[in-house]
Amino acid sequence: ELIREAYEGSERIRIIANQITYLTHSGEGVETETVKLQQVLDSAIRMAQPEIQHRATVVREYEADSLYIRGPRTRLGQLFLNLIVNAAQAIEPGDRAQNAITIRVRSTEEDRVCVEVQDTGPGIPSQLLRRIFDPFVTTKPAGRGTGLGLSICRRIVHSLEGTIEIQSHPGQGTVARVVLPKAPRARRPLSMPPTSMSAVRRATRGKLSLLVVDDEPVIARLIQKALVKHDVTTASDGREAVALMGQHAYDVILCDLIMPEMTGMDVYRAALQRTTPVHDRIVFMTGGAFTQRARDFLQSVPNLRIEKPFDLGHLERTIYEAADIVDPR
Ligand SMILES: Nc1ncnc2c1ncn2[C@@H]1O[C@H](COP(=O)(O)OP(=O)(O)O)[C@@H](O)[C@H]1O
Ligand SMILES: [Mg+2]
Repeated sequence: ELIREAYEGSERIRIIANQITYLTHSGEGVETETVKLQQVLDSAIRMAQPEIQHRATVVREYEADSLYIRGPRTRLGQLFLNLIVNAAQAIEPGDRAQNAITIRVRSTEEDRVCVEVQDTGPGIPSQLLRRIFDPFVTTKPAGRGTGLGLSICRRIVHSLEGTIEIQSHPGQGTVARVVLPKAPRARRPLSMPPTSMSAVRRATRGKLSLLVVDDEPVIARLIQKALVKHDVTTASDGREAVALMGQHAYDVILCDLIMPEMTGMDVYRAALQRTTPVHDRIVFMTGGAFTQRARDFLQSVPNLRIEKPFDLGHLERTIYEAADIVDPR
């Protein structure tokens, strides 16, 4: 109990700085386990207390029965914490008695559970609501919001085969609704890995048109040499890459994440904003140190990544996999 309190206490400090990806890099608690939903929610509520306490009262509307779900405990905590912090931050401090954050838990038809986080904040304009799950969409000042929270939430929910939606009408508050599968009563056998069909398809695929972006010319050239059977263009910085993206439709863009000036994240943003977006074609090359922002970013997008140094076989498989995702054949 003491350890838990100390832990949550130290986590709070980080949350104030909106470091919502707490713990995920420590590698602990990321393995799938069966967790009690109400307990995960209570923990998230406690961690969000510093954000909540001057703004709203917390109302728990939990179904009486304990509900169990399966997933990595820290990711689930991160999911609900972010929704609760968003709810709190939407409410102006100072009028605690007039505002509420309601956390509702119930089981739905069959095998699912539904969690709602409702607030009495100002609501979300429909313009913003449409893009709210996109990375980098934020209305908060720098340092307070990264705009990555909800895209991380969506990734987590989708990885657990759940759904997430946000309903809001300006002036009437907001409801975030997450629906997740209930933990099965008995252990089922692991599902089969994907059949070798796609491997066959990949092997028979022809030449791809690739763009390799790396500020280390040596690496770019090495990759180009290794992938002679494809059409490989190289760029030595983000700006050049973005210009090339405008001139040619690449099947896959292999992009270094950390580069001076324009980073892989900036390239992603530029690719996302094109009339025909090509952000989903990007495979990020990573290696070495990560900033918190880079870590948040990688968590917020579904793009494939490959860690340097990589061997040729792995590189090829990753490229074909990326090509399959954007253009399944
Ligand atoms: N409950 C809410 N009420 C009002 N606006 C919200 C709510 N949740 C999210 N938003 C809006 O969506 C934006 C994106 O949220 P998010 O992805 O968590 O990023 P961040 O919180 O870092 O800004 C917020 O900046 C805010 O404008
Ligand atoms: Mg947020």
